[in-house]
Amino acid sequence: MSEKPWDGRFAEKTDKLVEAFTSSIQVDKQLYAYDIEGSIAHCRMLAKTGIISGQEADTLIQGLDAVKAEIEAGKFRYDDSLEDIHMHIESRLGEIVGNVAKKLHTARSRNDQVALDIRLYLRAETRAIIKSLSDLRKAIVNLAENHTDVVLPGYTHLQRAQPVLLAHHLMAYYEMFSRDQARFEDCLKRINVMPLGSAALAGTTYPIDRHYTAQLLDFPNVSANSMDSVADRDFAIEFLSAASLCMVHFSRLSDEMILWSSSEFAFIEISDAFTTGSSIMPQKKNPDVCELVRGKTGRVFGSLIALLTLMKSLPMTYNRDMQEDKEPVFDAVNTLKSCIAVYTEMLPNIAIRKETMRQAAEKGFLNATDLADYLASKGMPFREAHGCSGRAVAFALSQNKEIHDLELWELKKFSDMIEADIFDFLTTEQMISRRTSFGGTALENVKQAIEQARKELKTQ
Ligand code: ARG
Repeated sequence: MSEKPWDGRFAEKTDKLVEAFTSSIQVDKQLYAYDIEGSIAHCRMLAKTGIISGQEADTLIQGLDAVKAEIEAGKFRYDDSLEDIHMHIESRLGEIVGNVAKKLHTARSRNDQVALDIRLYLRAETRAIIKSLSDLRKAIVNLAENHTDVVLPGYTHLQRAQPVLLAHHLMAYYEMFSRDQARFEDCLKRINVMPLGSAALAGTTYPIDRHYTAQLLDFPNVSANSMDSVADRDFAIEFLSAASLCMVHFSRLSDEMILWSSSEFAFIEISDAFTTGSSIMPQKKNPDVCELVRGKTGRVFGSLIALLTLMKSLPMTYNRDMQEDKEPVFDAVNTLKSCIAVYTEMLPNIAIRKETMRQAAEKGFLNATDLADYLASKGMPFREAHGCSGRAVAFALSQNKEIHDLELWELKKFSDMIEADIFDFLTTEQMISRRTSFGGTALENVKQAIEQARKELKTQ
């Protein structure tokens, strides 16, 4: 059992079971680089304010670099008795540079130190996620742009509703992921606040310069209240909530990919490289990537709920409960990153079954609304036109035909406003190209949306 930095007031040694129970090293060792970066900035600030000498700071910084090199070379020894990454690094620093290591923790507490580490970690990961989301959005725009001539049924209630361009359908996901990216960008502003120097909870008596530390670590803002700085994790909850919404979008896209690649739909084929086979059924080609992404959505929600529950009702300020924040955050970060990466690679490798999609769009009375619109355009009130079209659908159904398969004289039984131009009016092309309202599926609109997306992506 090693000496504890806090064992001055303790007569007994910590129970082994308690050491193992309270240790977080297996999880928070991931934060080593941020912990060292924070400590180096802290040293520089302590030297600048004259709290330690320049020479002491240099020794400490060299020592911290040496610890980092050991960790990266896999030569570092982890031990539950040292609890967490902060104490591991400080303890090894002591072995390397001697007594001066004891000065590193001046005007600092592990409470503000861990708050800094998580913020540094989440800042880097959020930036990486933002970048990868914009790559994903690019992949979606490319797929849309390459398939502006593909039509498929648009669905509501998973029932065929009206024809849409595949590019329009895909660009709906572009919009969703753009909002996700914007949420991460917004959340980053609140992550990017420097808490160090709040010490245990009340600030410190030393003449520190927190703004200088912030400048060294490239933080635009310094936290304004020492108690809030060590007590708060709402920036992480916000991150997890943005991650959860992003996973909602992935789960919907995945579900569609799974449906579309079934033999029942056969709208798409995912390339061999992104599917897997069955160990028993030789014919199988399974959309496992999509299924796993859909499944992993639950993990990310779980992380959000874990952190919300963890923080709920905690009295001010730091409580050891908060040590449990890291696992859910790390897991959500890794899960989301892997989902974005796999989708960005998979999307360009999807074959579009254009003919099947078109045939589906031409069956199932997708032009019933347009028949009503046709009658309304000739002066019939829309509600009445809706009834007329409904009766035409019922009749066509009884004949096992589509509306556009009926003869003109048959259609005229429902309204004599119907003329020969109806057949052109009810074609899939016409139906799509008439939907020119802003945000609608007409080709011109979709091309503009793609162009707009390209502009947005260029500025990132
Ligand atoms: N391992 C702790 C955590 O992750 C660091 C802070 C410990 N502070 C304390 N007062 N015991 O939250």
